[in-house]
Amino acid sequence: MQSSDIRSHFLEFFRKREHTIIPSAPLVPENDPSVLFNTAGMQPLVPYLLGEPHPEGSRLVNAQKCVRTTDIEEIGDKTHATFFEMLGNWSLGAYFKQEAIEWSYEFLTSAEEGLGLDPTRLYVTVFGGNADAPRDDESYAIWKKIFDSAGVAGERIYYMTTTPLGKEPNWWSAGENGPCGPDTEMFYDVTGTLTAGMTQAEYMAADERQDVVEIWNDVFMEYEKKDGQVIGKLKQRNVDTGAGLERVTMVIQGKDTIFDTDLFAHLMDVLRAGSSSPDIRLQRIVADHLRTAIFLIGDGVEPSNTDQGYILRRLIRRAVRFADVLGIQEGTLDNFISSALVPYQGVYANICDRQSEIEAVIRSEEEKFRQTLKRGLGELEKRLTDGSISGDDAFVLFSTYGFPLEMTIEIAKERNVPVDESAFREAFKRHQDLSRTASTGKFKGGLADHSPKVTAFHTATHLLLAGLRKELGDGVHQAGSNITEERTRFDFTYPEKVPRETLDRVEAYVNEAIAAQAAVGTVVMEKEAARAAGVEGSFWEKYPEKVTVYQVEAPDGTVYSRELCGGPHVANTSAIAPFGRFRIIKEEASSAGVRRIKAIFE
Ligand code: ALA
Repeated sequence: MQSSDIRSHFLEFFRKREHTIIPSAPLVPENDPSVLFNTAGMQPLVPYLLGEPHPEGSRLVNAQKCVRTTDIEEIGDKTHATFFEMLGNWSLGAYFKQEAIEWSYEFLTSAEEGLGLDPTRLYVTVFGGNADAPRDDESYAIWKKIFDSAGVAGERIYYMTTTPLGKEPNWWSAGENGPCGPDTEMFYDVTGTLTAGMTQAEYMAADERQDVVEIWNDVFMEYEKKDGQVIGKLKQRNVDTGAGLERVTMVIQGKDTIFDTDLFAHLMDVLRAGSSSPDIRLQRIVADHLRTAIFLIGDGVEPSNTDQGYILRRLIRRAVRFADVLGIQEGTLDNFISSALVPYQGVYANICDRQSEIEAVIRSEEEKFRQTLKRGLGELEKRLTDGSISGDDAFVLFSTYGFPLEMTIEIAKERNVPVDESAFREAFKRHQDLSRTASTGKFKGGLADHSPKVTAFHTATHLLLAGLRKELGDGVHQAGSNITEERTRFDFTYPEKVPRETLDRVEAYVNEAIAAQAAVGTVVMEKEAARAAGVEGSFWEKYPEKVTVYQVEAPDGTVYSRELCGGPHVANTSAIAPFGRFRIIKEEASSAGVRRIKAIFE
């Protein structure tokens, strides 16, 4: 079975069980300043897990693109990747443990309906209980019954209360805030040598040796966290499941690493052929970074020195550096893109249809990097000989020579030279608006900031766009948005500078809507109907067939904004008023044909 068969089998299995297939959300979350990328399938669905009705109903299934750069050090081993797809089925207050576990088992083991994995190589773990929630005896009993009635002999279910790394065992949350809950995890014996009936300690040792690989996780999201503490139960009981496509494919194809599956094989073949060094770890790193770069570019990220663009830049530059170590010919990385795209033909048009554009970005970033690399390496060398790298040194290498901090650290580490990272961050802070960048810890992931002020800014941003379209015409569309507690930053398509008088009128429009105590309501519409009705939205292709339209309407019937969105919003614009008057403090060019506005409440 190829990876594309596994993906489509999964979607189809749940479609037959009354789930609606929804497209993957883009890698870069919209209107969510607290994370750079979707790091799990549940991230784009948070508002719905918290209780907002989803336009496609309460049973969903998808393959969600995710990027995690927190374990970048682990890339090169058998199972880690910075980009991966998470297969997930979702219950938003519909079914719960019984169905979720039964379907997981059926999909994994049924030869007709699912993957036909050998159930005697399956092991599962169940939440063992802690101060927040009791031991999950229900899931244990469900698993026991399933294994017993399938005639799968021997003890293979383990309650987990501790893990080697001190992580919370069998409990899942995306960060300090948001929906969370106990989970049951499924592992597959990749060695084929384990026997059921292991003691808990024996099983955990097998896990440590990676004799078993986690292939699926069913999370029972019925709790909510705030500031790291479980504060109680959610309105509804949800199911969030995640099966990593790369790992499932590895198991199904009987491979030892994800890099030997069809998801990577073509790319690995050409990289191997182009390398004069056989260093497999470096080949995997280059393959991983190129693939992630492709998906980021496909979702509209451009290399830059901040936010998502910085991660993209860092991945491409790291790929270039290791390609050099491998002896891959300079300036040829873009030639590998077509091989990386092979497994995604017919699956992700946003990358396959844009091959030449992606190649051009990689080529140009490689060129830029090489121009600075030679000079930068000379500078770095001088400092390495001095025996230590100060924060200012690291900052100069970053700002003048384009050396990502991590690269300076990596090269210095190879020579046992320390780098003063905290002083780098200080220097960075002094020189840049740091609120959205690499050093702030935003890389850690975490959930959307749905604080009242951010929510107020979000609704005000809809009004801002409506005001801009009123003043500047229908050619104006959103090109990006980023909201923090301090301000909203909004990019929109427009060819020239907007005069201050116009901005004043736009500002007045927003403040009028706030004063009008307009209700913010949602309607679910067919996508095509919404489009035909003139609902504002960009990236229509990213939305499912049914869309949620947010409408801001005053008691006198004036409609201030009608826009596609996933929320969250204030219920009434009167909730924005306490934050102050909406004021546009800056209007400037962002990129060709795109302007950027910053606005605050004061
Ligand atoms: N959200 C769960 C995970 O990422 C399914 O493992």
